[in-house]
Order: sequence, then structure tokens, then C-alpha cells
Amino acid sequence: MKVKMIVAMDDQRFIGKNGELPWKLSADMSRFRNLTIADGYNAVIMGRKTWDSLPAAYKPLPERLNIVMSRDTSWKDEKVESALYPGRAIEIAYANGCNECWIIGGAQIYNMYQDMVEEIHLTMVHTSESGNISFPEIDWGNWKESVIEKIPKDDRNEHNTTYSIWEKK
Ligand SMILES: NC(=O)c1ccc[n+]([C@@H]2O[C@H](COP(=O)([O-])OP(=O)(O)OC[C@H]3O[C@@H](n4cnc5c(N)ncnc54)[C@H](OP(=O)(O)O)[C@@H]3O)[C@@H](O)[C@H]2O)c1
Repeated sequence: MKVKMIVAMDDQRFIGKNGELPWKLSADMSRFRNLTIADGYNAVIMGRKTWDSLPAAYKPLPERLNIVMSRDTSWKDEKVESALYPGRAIEIAYANGCNECWIIGGAQIYNMYQDMVEEIHLTMVHTSESGNISFPEIDWGNWKESVIEKIPKDDRNEHNTTYSIWEKK
């Protein structure tokens, strides 16, 4: 099972604003959906705050095993699996026969898993001061970038974006 991370951040590493996503980026949302569903049976691991931020219509994210991390032993939602520690979330994905396990945020969860992933799918959102929640500092010197796609802003995408895949060297 492959463990991968997917994130969109602005030029200052901001990923969230007051518990929400800071931008409307339709192309990025579609890519997120396609990559994390793919054609296999995949899991997504997210923090409890990111789970709380999802609109009701997307809870759980369809066609994926949703795993929510919380330190609260009484946290439960019948629509998802819950995990108390990082290794447990990976175990649940593995035990369910998932092909890929995607770390989908937010900041606390990205920080926890940064040493466990082999790929980071990164959308750089070309703007700044987007929010108040940041992606952790990573030594990008240990990673190799392949730029995949640049998407200009338009009426469905608020900013210019660059999508890259970073592989651990
Ligand atoms: N731009 C992007 O790509 C992207 C992607 C995802 C999310 N976001 C944004 O990120 C923000 C949320 O990020 P966040 O850092 O505030 O919250 P988060 O990472 O989504 O969730 C934090 C919660 O995860 C649980 N947790 C943290 N460490 C844990 C551990 N070691 N073991 C078990 N559970 C643990 C805790 O839940 P309990 O408090 O229940 O114990 C904690 O409060 C939102 O604004 C969201 O929109 C952005």
C-alpha cells in the first residue's frame, strides 16, 4: 500500500483560513477527487478539524474509506473509521485492503505524516496571506519535483496554480 500526501498551499505555505479552505479552485478540487479515488479502493486520512470543515454533502468523501484522527477516545461517527494515533490509521487502511492511502490534512496531520509519505502532490496557489493555518516546514532538498500542470485563473479558479508531484529522493 502506498502512502501519499495531497495539499494546496499559497506562496507563504498557508493552507487554511479560520478552519476552512481559503480559495475556490474548481480544477484542483476535481484533481483531488480523481487522484484520491483513482480506480482502486483507497483511503483518506484526515484530522478531526478537517472532517468538521467538510460540507455535509461531502461527508464522508464518497468512494473512499474515510479515516478521521482524533485523540478523543469518545469521538465517533458511524460514517467513518476513527484513529487515535498515526500508525492506527495506516493499519486500518491496510487491513481494509486499500491500494493507496492519502494524507489529506490539515496542518497537524500533514506534520505528523511528513516522514511516512513517499509522494507529495502539491498545488501551489499563486497568492499570499491566504489564511492563518500553515503547512509545516519541509526540507524540499530531500525531494525531487516534477511539474505536471499549470492552470491559469478564471471564473472557476480564483488564482493561478501549479501542480507538481514531489518524490522522496
Ligand atoms: N489546503 C489544503 O490542501 C487543506 C487540506 C486539508 C485541510 N485544510 C485546512 O486545514 C485546516 C485544519 O487544519 P488543523 O491543523 O487546524 O486541523 P486538522 O489537522 O485537520 O485536525 C486536527 C485534529 O486532529 C487530531 N489529531 C492531531 N494530532 C493527533 C494525533 N497525534 N493523534 C490523534 N489525533 C490527532 C486532533 O483532534 P481532536 O481535537 O478531536 O483530538 C486535532 O484537533 C482547515 O482550515 C482546513 O480547511 C487545508
